[in-house]
Parts: sequence; structure tokens; C-alpha cells
Amino acid sequence: MDVFYVSLLCLFISSVFLSLHYLFSKKKPGSTALPPGKTGWPIIGESLEFLQTGWKGHPEKFIFDRMTKYSSTVFRTHLLGEKAAVFCGAAGNKFLFSNENKLVQAWWPSSVDKIFPSSTQTSSKEEAIKMRKMLPSFLKPEALHRYVGIMDHIAQRHFADGWENRGNIVVFPLAKNYTFWLACRLFVSIEDPKQVDELAEPFNLLASGLISIPIDLPGTPFNKGIKASNFDILSHMLLTSDENGKFMEELDIADKILGLLIGGHDTASSACTFIVKYLAELPQVYQAVYKEQMEIAKAKGPGELLNWDDLQKMKYSWNVACEVLRLASPLQGAFRKPLLILHTMLYWSANSTHKNPEFFPEPQKFNPSRFEGSGPAPYTFVPFGGGPRMCPGKEYARLEILVFMHHLVKRFKWEKMIPDEKIVVDPMPIPAKGLPVRLFPHNNLA
Ligand code: HEM
Repeated sequence: MDVFYVSLLCLFISSVFLSLHYLFSKKKPGSTALPPGKTGWPIIGESLEFLQTGWKGHPEKFIFDRMTKYSSTVFRTHLLGEKAAVFCGAAGNKFLFSNENKLVQAWWPSSVDKIFPSSTQTSSKEEAIKMRKMLPSFLKPEALHRYVGIMDHIAQRHFADGWENRGNIVVFPLAKNYTFWLACRLFVSIEDPKQVDELAEPFNLLASGLISIPIDLPGTPFNKGIKASNFDILSHMLLTSDENGKFMEELDIADKILGLLIGGHDTASSACTFIVKYLAELPQVYQAVYKEQMEIAKAKGPGELLNWDDLQKMKYSWNVACEVLRLASPLQGAFRKPLLILHTMLYWSANSTHKNPEFFPEPQKFNPSRFEGSGPAPYTFVPFGGGPRMCPGKEYARLEILVFMHHLVKRFKWEKMIPDEKIVVDPMPIPAKGLPVRLFPHNNLA
């Protein structure tokens, strides 16, 4: 029996080694196991070029230049202080997503640990594992059913305060206000817009990595949030003990909520902003979204809130949102740390498939029909990542984006005030001036 298990182990190790060798080997016979590419300057490596292509609005250029020059599957570089192998295409995504905790593990650059100093002095990896355990009960579709009405209610207040009776608005700050307000309401039971505003400023600074975390100051809105009593994610964290019967420390809870608020806030607001941009540029797409949303709106009684079934009917709108997520993916990719053999970080890149004609013909063309039927091939559409570390906020994001689209098109048509506004990706894509638009309210609003 022992011999059997030893053989099995040998077989496993050989297959691991061979699969890594296959992915990393150059085409030239006799070459080393390192993928082709260059690591650039000492210390900064190729980070500057990586960031610069983003600042110029074309983060995919960094990837595609190297895919053309070195290899369409994997190339070597040096990013954000780390030697890295960038995995490209559907095969690269599949390899990283399906080998989580077998060959690779999620990993963040050390700057993340500095911005999120953990109360318990553990690494961001351990913190993420804890977070991952907490989340499913809140963010799985069934649990989200009861969020839809609350989202609708907050969206109504948001549009009434920020959009209505204003000729011109700037979309990005408003979209941030919307997603932040929702997160405050759903995660820490804060609904009062004044309190939300007070919280928003330090969060925005924090998200940019400029200040340390303002969490444990008595009397701050965040602290008040911790005392909020509704059964939300906060009270769950307060009431749940781990397998050893230990309850989470207050600071630890604050850490987790902070992660949730930041992780979910900028990504979804970037997506909402690009939806407004593309709908302004594509009147036919706008018209089709408008038609779908008005059918839902007209079937509602006065004051009746949106519900789960309504959101299931928003199929075309979600295809539009997916096409926006393909073209302007809020996250560009993420790192993985190999568990065996290599001393190089691995990186998956959304653009290596999203903007690749092999997987999306005419990749620059906005075409929501790509998502009809069975949709894109597996591992090609990855705005939320994939495998065990796929974004746990995906369904939550879908709901908040659809509720946003519903209120937006139900109320307005709009036009961009800067027709060729530049896009900056730093690290999320946003229009350089925040997307100023001129609003034209519909007259037929109830
Ligand atoms: C359009 C909106 C969003 C996009 C595009 C997005 C994208 C992603 C991606 C690509 C990852 C995986 C990164 C990796 O491979 O390591 C991720 C992870 C994560 N997302 Fe999202 N996300 C969005 C919204 C949200 C929301 C609304 C929440 C919370 C309510 C959230 C919470 C998280 C968390 C906690 C993780 C880390 C999971 C882990 O480490 O296992 N995200 N997100």
C-alpha cells in the first residue's frame, strides 16, 4: 500500500512540475524554465511602463506588446516591486483559477498590507481567508433577495438628491456616492446622507492610500455604525464566533468592513460611470435598455419597490453591463503566489482575453449580443476573476448596477459634455474629468 501512495505522490509531483514547465518553457529547445520577457530596470522593473499605459487609458497595450514580442501565453516582467510572470489568454486564466491552493495562492503586493495593517498582525492572506468565510451568507444570491428593495429605496433617494433638477452633473463622484451609500446602509446600517458624506471623504482618501485607517476613534460615524443594531453583516460579525468559540475583535471587524466598503465601492462606481458613458455614445443601446426598464417600471404599482423577479427580467441591461465590464474592466488583474518551485509572482490579466480578437472578434466594438445564449467561452470573460477566489461581491454588484441602470434611464437621457474625454486607468478606469454630462429629464415620469 505504501508503495502505491509513494507512486501516487511521485506522479502528482511530476504532473505539477510538468504543467509548470510546460507553461513556462520557451519554444527554443534547451532553454531554461523561465518564460520569455525582460525584467526592466533595477527595483522599478517595468512598473513605470505598466502604469503609464494605464494613465494613457490603454492598459492592454502593456500586455499585448509583450504577448506579440515574447509569447501569447506567458511572459516575464517585473511589476510593483516583484518579479512576475504574466499569464495570458483563456489557458493562462484557467491555469491560475483552477489551481488555487494547489499550485498557487492569492497574493497582494506588500503595499496592501501597509494600507490595511491588521489588528491581529496576521498577513493579508490570512485576513482574506477569514473574510472569505464570513461572506457567503451575506453575498450569496438567496441572501441578496432582501437587499433589492433597500437598494431601490436608496437609489431613489440618491437620484432625488444628486441628479434631479440639475442640468449638468459629473457622473463619477455621484456613482461613488451611490455605491458608498448602499454599502453604508447594507453593511453598517447607516442611511443618513450626512453621516454617509462624513464617512465618504476619509474612505476616498484611504482608497487612494493617502492616509491611515480612521477606525477606532470613539464618536466617529464608523464607530457609530458598529453600534448600529439591525441584523446586517456587522451584527453577524459581532455575534459569530470562530471554531474555537472566539469572537472577532472590534478592530478586526472594522478591518473587514473597511475591506468590503473599499473593495466593493470603487469597482462598482467605475462600472456605473462607464455605463453612463457608453449609453451616451450609443443611442440604439440606450433605447433598448430604456424599453426593457420601462416595461418593468410600468408594471409596478405606485410606490412599489423593485424586487428580485424584476431584476431577473433585466437581461438585456445586464448584457450591456457585461459588455461595459469587458471593455472597461474595473480590476485589471491580480497576483498569485506559486506554492512550489518558482520565486516569481504570477499575474492574470483581464485584458489579455477581454481585448483579444481570438476570444472577442472586433474587441473594441461595443456589442452586448456577445453575452446572449451561452455567452463567451469559459475563462475569457473574467471581470470578477475566477475559481475559488472569484469576487464574492459579484451578485451584489449585479444588483446594485441594475438598480442604478433602472433609475438612470427611467429618469433621463443625457449627452457627454466632453465628447472625447480621456480615460485614465489608475488603478481603476475613470474618465479624466469624471464624465460631466448634460441631463434631459423625461417628461413622463410618475
Ligand atoms: C463591478 C464590481 C466588481 C468587480 C469588477 C470586482 C472584481 C473583483 C475581482 C476580479 C476579484 C478577484 C481578484 C483576484 O483574482 O484575486 C475580486 C475580489 C473581491 N471582491 Fe470584488 N469586484 C466587484 C465588486 C465587489 C463588491 C460589491 C464587493 C463587496 C460587497 C466585493 C468584494 C470583494 C472581496 C472581499 C474580494 C476578495 C476575495 C478573496 O480574496 O477571496 N467586490 N473582486
